[in-house]
Order: sequence, then C-alpha cells, then structure tokens
Amino acid sequence: MSEAVVETRALTRAFGPLLAVDHLSVQVFGGEVFGLLGPNGAGKTTTIKMLTTLLPPTSGAAEVAGFDIVRQPTEVRRAIGYIPQLISVDAQVTGYENLWVFSRLYRIPRDEREKRIRDALEFMGLSAYADVLVRNYSGGMIRRLEIAQALMHRPRVLFMDEPTVGLDPLARDTVWEQIDRVRTTYGTSVVLTTHYMEEADQLCDRVGILHRGKLQALDRPAALKASLGRPGATLEDVFVHYAGEEIELGGSYRETGRTRRAAVRLE
Ligand SMILES: Nc1ncnc2c1ncn2[C@@H]1O[C@H](COP(=O)(O)OP(=O)(O)O)[C@@H](O)[C@H]1O
Ligand SMILES: [Mg+2]
Repeated sequence: MSEAVVETRALTRAFGPLLAVDHLSVQVFGGEVFGLLGPNGAGKTTTIKMLTTLLPPTSGAAEVAGFDIVRQPTEVRRAIGYIPQLISVDAQVTGYENLWVFSRLYRIPRDEREKRIRDALEFMGLSAYADVLVRNYSGGMIRRLEIAQALMHRPRVLFMDEPTVGLDPLARDTVWEQIDRVRTTYGTSVVLTTHYMEEADQLCDRVGILHRGKLQALDRPAALKASLGRPGATLEDVFVHYAGEEIELGGSYRETGRTRRAAVRLE
C-alpha cells in the first residue's frame, strides 16, 4: 500500500479526568477509506477535531499529509477537507453561492473558479439545483454539497464526521457512492466516523473500533469478522467482542434531529 497520509502516535486528549482519546496510534494510507467506528462518546469527534487542528492534543503526536498537527496547523488545513457533524453550508444562499464563497476562501484563481464550481456541482449530481436556496435542499443534497465544498481545493485527505446521520436509506446510499467516487476519481483518502455498523462494513477499507477513547481493534471489515472464528459473524458481533458490551445507540435519534434539522425535503 502507499505511504501514510495520516499517522497518529499515542494521540491523547483529556477533558479533566476523562481521557476522551487515549493513546491512539493509527495510520491511514493514500486512497483509503478509513472508518472510526464507535458508539456516542467513544471519542470519534474529538479525534477528528485534533486531526483537523481544531482542538490541541493533550499528549502524543500526529501528522496529516506529512505536516505536524501542532507545529504546522496552517499547512494541515490547506491539505485537508473537513465536513463536521453539524451542517457546514449556508442555508440562506444557493448551492452555487456556497461554493463561490468557499472558492474565494481557498484562493482558487479567479479564472478557474467558475469551472471548478460547475465541475464540483456536476460531480455531486447537483447541477440542476445550483441556483436553488440550500434551505430547500434535502438532507442528502446538503451532504453532497458539503462534499463538493470540501473538495474544491483538491485536498489529500477528506475528514467526515458521521456523514450519513439523519439521512434516509436512499440518500445514505447516494452519499456512500459519492464518497467512493471521490476516492476513485481524485485518489483522496477519506477518514470518517460512524456509529453505523453497516456503513463501516460496506464503505470502509479498514475500520478502527473505538471504545471509551481506546482503539480496540483495527483491520479490514472482513478480517475483523473472520477473527471471531464463527461463520456469519457481523461487525456488530465484532464490536461486542472487542468492546465487551452491546453498542449503545442511545441519544442518536435526538442527535440526528439536532444535526440535520435544517434539511428540508425536496426530493
Ligand atoms: N469539550 C468537551 N469538554 C468536556 N468533555 C468533552 C468535550 N468534548 C467531548 N467530551 C467528552 O469526551 C468524550 C468523547 O466525546 P466525542 O469525541 O464527542 O465522542 P463521539 O464523537 O465518539 O460521540 C465524551 O465522553 C464527551 O462527553
Ligand atoms: Mg461525534
């Protein structure tokens, strides 16, 4: 496999006595879709926030696209795309206008902007909705616009925190397809978090199981399932095996409402 585009070494974040992320050591390779799987409170968002330079680690180290997250935050930010758990596009303007603002923010040369925006909309299947206000987009369309936005500057790594929370199965499948196309078209590595077993299983090349801040297991989904040594084992069984308890999805419905409230159905 190609070189690591993300490498963490004993990456740790404490909040008072709580170790939200506890000595995490992982590598993510070029063109890989890497999933951090764990229930609410496992430390997924905290990990993503550290890797995107939004939150300093308490100890340990990490490099993203070869840059140190603590010493070279500006370089890291230029090399990544980031889609947070909360909606990151402006609902009051159109899809096109959202991308326009972003293209200026990322200093895409003026004479390239128009084409870059049109290409991004086309790639995400949003050309027909370019001039529609985002508040009239469905949840799936918003997610696709966010992906378009995060890819405008051709990052080496795309970070997505819970990319399909609150989406209906059809929209979720479309977002999965788009994530896969991002990787195959641009060679972008994708680091995503999820508490959906199925998402980790179908979308990710490798999955790290995170529980109470600690990495419990890390491998390809098929290898994780095979490691249990019983036929028909699911990723859910893997989670129970390594985390020692049932995955708790408590709070996820509430969270969904909060996270994706702005999504108004159009499709
Ligand atoms: N800013 C904060 N202050 C205190 N505790 C926090 C803060 N952010 C997260 N935590 C705690 O850290 C743990 C991991 O949170 P988080 O990374 O958001 O988990 P996940 O994204 O896997 O649901 C949780 O117990 C959470 O309550
Ligand atoms: Mg989270």
